[in-house]
Amino acid sequence: MRAVIPPKPGPAGLQVQDLGVSFGRGRKAFDVIDSLSFQVGAGETLGLVGESGSGKSMTAAALMGLLPWGGRISAGSVRLDGTELTQLSAPALRAVRGREIGMIFQNPLSSLNPSLTIAQQIAEPYRLYGGADAQAARTHALDLLREVGVPDAARRLDDYPHQFSGGMRQRVMIAMALVCHPRLLIADEPTTALDVITQAQILRLIRRLQKALGMAVIFITHDLSLVAEHADSVMVLYAGRAVEQGPAEAFFRAPRHPYSQALLHAIPRLAKPEERLSDIDGLPPRPQEFSKGCRFAPRCPAVTPECLNAYPQRQGGAHHFYCMHPVGGSA
Ligand SMILES: Nc1ncnc2c1ncn2[C@@H]1O[C@H](COP(=O)(O)OP(=O)(O)OP(=O)(O)O)[C@@H](O)[C@H]1O
Ligand SMILES: [Mg+2]
Repeated sequence: MRAVIPPKPGPAGLQVQDLGVSFGRGRKAFDVIDSLSFQVGAGETLGLVGESGSGKSMTAAALMGLLPWGGRISAGSVRLDGTELTQLSAPALRAVRGREIGMIFQNPLSSLNPSLTIAQQIAEPYRLYGGADAQAARTHALDLLREVGVPDAARRLDDYPHQFSGGMRQRVMIAMALVCHPRLLIADEPTTALDVITQAQILRLIRRLQKALGMAVIFITHDLSLVAEHADSVMVLYAGRAVEQGPAEAFFRAPRHPYSQALLHAIPRLAKPEERLSDIDGLPPRPQEFSKGCRFAPRCPAVTPECLNAYPQRQGGAHHFYCMHPVGGSA
């Protein structure tokens, strides 16, 4: 791919430390994300996994500075290539978002503007944040469409989103996310709506572009088998907190948290998503109901009374987990 925007200097990658996200004020305030720490190096992929409602999209929104109304970063630090994003003014953050962070959303149709052509949607941010003139932006849009594998790209440039199939729209979304050559790409369930063949093509495409551009990638999914295939490191979220994280190889060799193990056991049944986690009874708590103890305790096969008293201490090194009764015994 032609690197139209010159590479930027600085330490590479994303560092997140003790991130917290809250909604509401005073006595009605509640946390949806609590004490999240992780890093993703340039060229690396972090797989972010967890059940529906665990806080995956909220984490992405916090990193982008795009929390829903009423939400705010209540604690912690987010550094992208050495720049602290939580301290930036709104316009500075908008510029970082436009230029340094690309986002692929779960539903490409609702994320594309139905009244703008594909050329307009890809080229506009490039004019705005890449400083290109109209013709250069159009040429860049065409290059990108070809790069992401849209057939007959020159003719399709002036089509509207509804004229594209689901898989092709997702390719357009990827082109849009990459238009300014971001350092960080966040892919939130990028293939959930697609058939398995298209899914595999899209994930291969993201991987190839990541290697070419040296991007840090956060790959959000509920599917651990995709994480095993595509991620260098893993973070398992449960009810707004990380329960286990570390290098993918160590995690998949010996998952330590009972929740991670339950997720892994659920993999063969993912062909029928409504059956997933059927071997764990119950549902995750809502943020307003988070307790001071382990949040997985009410569903955990290894629970003891002490699990309810305080949040478990961190155990382990690069591969670590928060559990008093880990699979395989304590360290
Ligand atoms: N606008 C909002 N105000 C308050 N709480 C919210 C808001 N949007 C989401 N939440 C809560 O934040 C928590 C995390 O939601 P989030 O969307 O990050 O989950 P997720 O892991 O992405 O789930 P899914 O797999 O379904 O996409 C949920 O408990 C949700 O109810
Ligand atoms: Mg989500």
